[in-house]
This record gives sequence, C-alpha cells and structure tokens, in this order.
Amino acid sequence: PAKVLVFASGRGSNFVNLVKQSKKFNYRVIALIVDNPEAPAIEAAKKLDIPYYVVMRQMDETKARNEEKIKSYLETIPFDYIALAGYMRILTSEFVKRYNKRVINIHPSLLPAFKGPSAIEDAFNYGVRVSGVTIHYIDEGIDTGEIIEQEIVYVDDDETLESFKRKIHELEHELYPKVIHRLIQKRR
Ligand code: GAR
Repeated sequence: PAKVLVFASGRGSNFVNLVKQSKKFNYRVIALIVDNPEAPAIEAAKKLDIPYYVVMRQMDETKARNEEKIKSYLETIPFDYIALAGYMRILTSEFVKRYNKRVINIHPSLLPAFKGPSAIEDAFNYGVRVSGVTIHYIDEGIDTGEIIEQEIVYVDDDETLESFKRKIHELEHELYPKVIHRLIQKRR
C-alpha cells in the first residue's frame, strides 16, 4: 500500500478518519506531523498507535530553519503523499517544489471562494446557498494550488452554522480517503 504522511495542527478529525479508512482504500498512514504541541490530534495518534512528530517553531527560528527540521525527518521515512489535514501553516516555495504534486490539502469551501482559516463560517455568514469541499495540490499561495476534486453541500433553509459545519465535515471525511485512493491508482 502507498504510504501517506498526515500534517495537522488541531482537532485531527480528518487525520483520524484517514487512518480509519486506510485499509479500505489501500494506503497506510505512516506518521502524523504536528506544529502545535497542544493539538488534540496528538492524543488521537497515541490511541491509534500512529507515530507522531511535533515540530514546534521556536520564537527566534526562521520559517526556513523550522522546515529544515521537517525535511530531515521526512528523509528518514519514505512516503508517497503528504496529506495536509487542518495544517494551518504555509509551506515555503522550496518545500512545495521539492515535493511537487505529492502534497495535497483539503479545504472546507469551493475554492477559489472563501480561502483562509475560517472558510466554513465565512461562507455561512456570507449567506451562500451552496458550498462544499475542495481537495487540491499545494503551491506557494494560501489555498491556491491546482484543484483535484470538489464536491458540493447545499445550505438548507433552516440550516444553522452547527448543522452546516457537520455537513461539511461529513463530506470531508467521505471525500479525502477516496481522492487519495484515486491519486494512488493513477500513479500506478
Ligand atoms: C478541516 O475542516 C479542514 O478542511 C480545514 O481545517 C479543518 C481541520 O479539521 N482546513 C483549512 O481550513 C485549511 N485552510 P480537523 O483537524 O478536524 O481535521
């Protein structure tokens, strides 16, 4: 099976889901990388018995220097794809070039609408009737890389922010493992 590394910063529901669906979709989550030592995703990794690596950025450390740590770690583990799952940090262009078309991200809106860290709320508060989920390759920008897949979610008349969030996350959980599976199949 193909080897997938997951990067996360927070809750980690996509990480957990990617691990749980891995058998069915014929890939393996080989490790979790987090930039935030308080991320609940770490507890989840422990429970699932997935190795994790915390790369905290020190106050006086440059972004490039911090990424060096990630790169040295990556060199020790062969992998096929990096799946960003709520990883709230922008990767340098050097990193993006080095792992060209091997780093993918999930974003909770129909890009290019509602980029940024609060896309679900932003779309809901804007009053859209349709939103969705995007999976795309990573480039140097924020939520700008080439789109791989998108699926839509309708906003019902009685929708609340909570119910809308739930629908978006359900779709994320359904879509991400499938898309990873498809990418792996295509590469064979
Ligand atoms: C997900 O909804 C993901 O799409 C979003 O962060 C959430 C992480 O949830 N990512 C972005 O907004 C990227 N710009 P999780 O930690 O429960 O997987």
